[in-house]
Amino acid sequence: MIIKEKELLKTHTTFQTGGPASFFIEARTENDIKEAAIFFKQKNLPVFVLGLGSNLLVSDNGFKGIIINILSEGIKSEVYNEDVLVIAEAGERWDSLVGYSVWEGLYGLENMSAIPGTVGGGVAGNIGAYGAEVKDRLLWVDALDMRSGNVKRFSNADCVFTYRNSFFKTEEGKNNIIIRAGFLLSKNGKANIAYKDLSDFFAGKTSVPNLKEIRDAIISIRQSKLPDWTKVGTAGSFFKNPTVSEKEFSDLKTRFPEIPGRIEDSSLSEKRVKLSLGWILDKICGLKGMSVGRVGTYGNQALVIVNEGGTANEVLSFAGSIEKIVKEKTGITIEREVELVGF
Ligand code: EPU
Repeated sequence: MIIKEKELLKTHTTFQTGGPASFFIEARTENDIKEAAIFFKQKNLPVFVLGLGSNLLVSDNGFKGIIINILSEGIKSEVYNEDVLVIAEAGERWDSLVGYSVWEGLYGLENMSAIPGTVGGGVAGNIGAYGAEVKDRLLWVDALDMRSGNVKRFSNADCVFTYRNSFFKTEEGKNNIIIRAGFLLSKNGKANIAYKDLSDFFAGKTSVPNLKEIRDAIISIRQSKLPDWTKVGTAGSFFKNPTVSEKEFSDLKTRFPEIPGRIEDSSLSEKRVKLSLGWILDKICGLKGMSVGRVGTYGNQALVIVNEGGTANEVLSFAGSIEKIVKEKTGITIEREVELVGF
């Protein structure tokens, strides 16, 4: 493993912010990850496990501790009853895994095409898009407990997946470094094109799209709605879509008749309605494309913050003013989706 000191984190995050890390470890193999865990125990400093840095806002003061950058690569597959188990190392690019599965004719991940990040980060954050989520296909995760040095296999249930969250994001879970994950994919799957953007895309077509066509459609939809993270600082959606009670939703409907909302999980006794914060920021708050200095919301998707060379503090203060405006206009308290590091 390679250990660097005072490595600038702004070069390792898609938001392009972040000062130096006291120690920055590049871990390319499972063995490197194990050595990094030993180093962590010796130093007794805070630790943060980094993938592609695509969902983080890192402080301008950097991180006083150890960053373990997971760079392990590799994807393989094996037959698993009627399905195929695809196993990917944690540092593998998420989209390489999706591209591989589409190429192999396997259904399940195609709607999550072109999401920037690594497999480990994607699992920890239960990433999702266009009606699909990691938790729908994940069979198991192998993770190293940094305190004991043991590798344990977590089942899907052990991961406690919820919206953009999992056990690996909890205080306890953060002691575990994801090493690899297994996804159960289907050879004879079905196209899932119910999400509005996708059904609009394929409207008028008589045949059911194949995997490659779905992947291409997702890439094209994402290009039209989301900024290119290789060109501008961004971490995608900055906030989570909030949920409210049915009563709160009907009150909001009275004030804003067009407001979209859908029942989050109809099996719960007390139903929650999930709102589209992008719509609220755009249609109620008039914040789409609004900027303060070098930081603003994206012109095609108000839930996304773009950073044109600003500092982490500028981004945070901009996000804070959005939180305040939403609270004033709607009464809703919103939560960040992007994780803060070093603040
Ligand atoms: N909308 C507006 N104006 C906007 C943005 C959105 O009116 O400025 C409306 C859209 O027209 C649509 C609704 O709001 O009716 C929802 O928008 P969209 O389909 O773009 O999805 P989202 O809820 O804003 C979520 C994820 C995205 C993911 C998309 C597609 C979260 C926090 N975000 O966004 O994920 O790509 O769905 O599935 O759940 C990310 O997590 O970083 C991310 C980009």
